[in-house]
Amino acid sequence: MTEIKKSIHGEWSSRFAFILAATGSAVGLGNIWKFPYITGENGGGAFVLVYLLCVALIGIPIMIAETLMGRRGRQSPINTMQSLARDAGADESWHYLGWIGVITGFLILSYYSVIAGWAMSYVFKSLSGSFSGEGVDHIAKLFDAFIASPMQLIFWHSLFMMATMDVVVRGVQGGLEKAVRFLMPSLFALLLVMVGYAMSTDAYQQGLDFMFNPDFSKIDGHSILTAMGHAFFTLSLGMGAIMVYGSYLPKHVSIAKTSFIVAGADTAVALLAGIAIFPIVFANNLEPSSGPGLIFQTLPIAFGQMTGGLIFGTLFFILLVFAALSSSISLIEPAVAWLVENHNVSRNKACTWAGLATWLLGLGTVFSFNLWSDFKLFDRTVFDLLDYLTANLLLPIGGFFVAVFAGWIMLRRHSEEELEMQYDAGYWLWRFLVRYVSPAAVFLVFLNVVGVLSV
Ligand code: PHE
Repeated sequence: MTEIKKSIHGEWSSRFAFILAATGSAVGLGNIWKFPYITGENGGGAFVLVYLLCVALIGIPIMIAETLMGRRGRQSPINTMQSLARDAGADESWHYLGWIGVITGFLILSYYSVIAGWAMSYVFKSLSGSFSGEGVDHIAKLFDAFIASPMQLIFWHSLFMMATMDVVVRGVQGGLEKAVRFLMPSLFALLLVMVGYAMSTDAYQQGLDFMFNPDFSKIDGHSILTAMGHAFFTLSLGMGAIMVYGSYLPKHVSIAKTSFIVAGADTAVALLAGIAIFPIVFANNLEPSSGPGLIFQTLPIAFGQMTGGLIFGTLFFILLVFAALSSSISLIEPAVAWLVENHNVSRNKACTWAGLATWLLGLGTVFSFNLWSDFKLFDRTVFDLLDYLTANLLLPIGGFFVAVFAGWIMLRRHSEEELEMQYDAGYWLWRFLVRYVSPAAVFLVFLNVVGVLSV
């Protein structure tokens, strides 16, 4: 018999609560802001296909692995890795994997919060009628003027960080769980409204073709790396967010099933966002490759023109902010859980420290869009660098080691117990994917980018 450990931070009240929270973590700016713009930058269909393959072959097996490791370890990722390594008789330096995760989460949140701040300010822009009846040029100018102002970006970034810390302070059930209950379904419904609008434009078919007709000449090793990195980013994998959520998961909840549901919902939201956005891009002769401003330059055009656009626009950005909030809390939770466990500080204090540090680093991203826009390191602005470093390098590296740990280091008996699927073809398939396919795929994509392979 295995002892049943519980997390000192609390537990989800049900399987449904976990699904909501994990979906809340997965669905966020990655789906609605990032997926469309990187799809636009990387030429559409072929990129989407590679992304979908990465979700299926790398993302889902690693999500299962991270959840089960979390539930077995029942602590922050750093301490979970330490105790799992001990259980498996492996070297305790595995706990550094937890460290990489904590640091990655902190780096991601620093820029995530700035972009979420953009969404917050767009709630008010929409509400005040700034988009009503306006055309492409006005909407583009509005956006450019906004990101050119450091003070405005700092204001919204600060507000978003405070909101995040406020939810995290309340702890597992009080804060995290309540925050996601109603928001996810509403966001989904509103995306359907947007798809409805996209269908009414002349460019609907063109938008669909762009997203689903693969043209492989448009992608190279870097696009493949971006697609793979995004699979990790969008599913919240490789940095311990899903691991720490798994650690609050009650026993006897099927980890495989919940992972499929979470990954399915996440992918559906991303695809719907793309289907809503690209027809607007083409109908207005905009560039699909216009970068991080894409949704802020396209969706307001639609809101400005459709009936009820003021309400739909305002609601949409409100829900986007909440989707971002339910992700941002999972980005900081591993650090907070660790501070509470190892430094004996209150949750309150842990949140304040972690939040302040993240806020400060976020200023680098704020200035990337204005004061420091010409300052480049490795040919990238601070924001681009943070994004590349985390999504394309650190998350896949973290995920790679999660797969190796679950597949090769953890005792088979232990993963079987957590998944409760001994002698099952599903278990066999998972183990095959996590031992061979996922790590090899990550490795090959890296080799390809450094030019060792030529695709
Ligand atoms: N998955 C989130 C999104 O798509 C971002 C995120 C990444 C959250 C990593 C947690 C961990 O917006």
